[in-house]
Amino acid sequence: MKTQVAIIGGGPAGLLLSQLLDLHGIDNIVLERRTRDYVLGRIRAGVLEQGSVDLLRAADVGERMDREGQVHDGVELSWHDERLQIPIKDLTGRGVMIYGQTEVTHDLYDARDARGGAVIHEADVFAIDGIESDSPVVRYLKDGQEHTLECDFVAGCDGFHGPARKAIPAAQRREFIREYPFGWLGLLSETPPAAHELIYASHDRGFALCSMRSDVLSRYYVQVPLTEKVEDWSADRFWDELKMRIPEDVAAHLVTGPAIEMSIAPLRSFVSEPMRYGRLFLAGDAAHIVPPTGAKGLNLAFSDVYYLHRTLDAFYSTNDTDALDAYSDLALARVWKCERFSWWMTNLLHDFPDRSDFERRMQKTEFEYLLQSETARKSLAENYVGLPY
Ligand code: FAD
Ligand code: DHB
Repeated sequence: MKTQVAIIGGGPAGLLLSQLLDLHGIDNIVLERRTRDYVLGRIRAGVLEQGSVDLLRAADVGERMDREGQVHDGVELSWHDERLQIPIKDLTGRGVMIYGQTEVTHDLYDARDARGGAVIHEADVFAIDGIESDSPVVRYLKDGQEHTLECDFVAGCDGFHGPARKAIPAAQRREFIREYPFGWLGLLSETPPAAHELIYASHDRGFALCSMRSDVLSRYYVQVPLTEKVEDWSADRFWDELKMRIPEDVAAHLVTGPAIEMSIAPLRSFVSEPMRYGRLFLAGDAAHIVPPTGAKGLNLAFSDVYYLHRTLDAFYSTNDTDALDAYSDLALARVWKCERFSWWMTNLLHDFPDRSDFERRMQKTEFEYLLQSETARKSLAENYVGLPY
């Protein structure tokens, strides 16, 4: 089999890249290790930046999002019972869209189907050969058989655990990593949201987040030690813990119910440089991970895809090889700024078990500064709604 761009990974990054390349007349095939149902069953991100919203519209996949998504003009932080509303729209002129990653992925699959796009499921990529040549070959297993896909370029959109990043020789790669000593336990429930806006809550018992997917579907998270196991958490235990961490009046009106889904995700900051080696380009979680506190992971995957589809379009339409050379630096400049914001939000809002008294006081002072300074709130808002592409 042969194509122009072989895309490894049928998550949001791979599917959006596939759709955009197709709209620019560039042939591509997506290889995805899992079944479609498995990919659609993963409950993950919920907040889209304006840039992501615009890109999805440009890719002809914005229709349901515009109909069913919720535009939010503000977000709330709390520190015990102290609350701080940040009017992100007033401060920046932009808002964010509440629309789940599951729905985005669903819409992207529908869009690929409608255009006859090739997405091969249960195709497990195990080797990427010839990335230093003009004709790389991707090797994968499907139905117990080995297959090859010849191409001009490989797009590694295969997430943190995928093989693409590892195909870059170790000597040519530099990794930056910070692991946090806690994870997030998430719960999805068919209950109305705790509040109209998202609440990021800091408390001595640990961080908590009240989010939502719609007026009847809520998503909550609580910080837990890495030793915690999801089997040890009932929905009741979760609700009791959440109520202790969020402002009292929000807790008093919280509607609880059974959990549709519960899972624990570890928190990590990670960047692998460069994002391009020869004919291999990385995008999304394959190249970087942010802790979820700033709601940046999916959005960062989409800004990479924005740069990458333009890079490949420039190459195919004008034979512009400078664009190929520029991709990694262009994408990484934005990646590092989002890494900084996600790290900063994580430090601001979580309980770090081994933090000194001095560091705890600094954390409290940071919150007090936000309370007092519109400049500080504006900086938070500017990053939360998304830095320009
Ligand atoms: P993935 O979604 O990981 O997709 C990669 C795909 O590659 C997968 O489908 C995988 O099966 C496939 N693959 C892997 N290996 C192979 C192989 N060998 N062969 C073929 N295919 C392969 N981000 C936000 O922006 N906002 C949020 O609010 C937010 N909240 C989050 C909450 C949680 C609990 C979690 C876990 C994440 C959250 N994120 C959030 C992050 C966001 O979900 C990710 O950044 C996003 O999924 C990245 O998309 P991706 O396409 O790069 O990677
Ligand atoms: C959600 C997840 C996040 O990481 C975040 O910062 C905001 C919302 C969510 O799943 O709804």
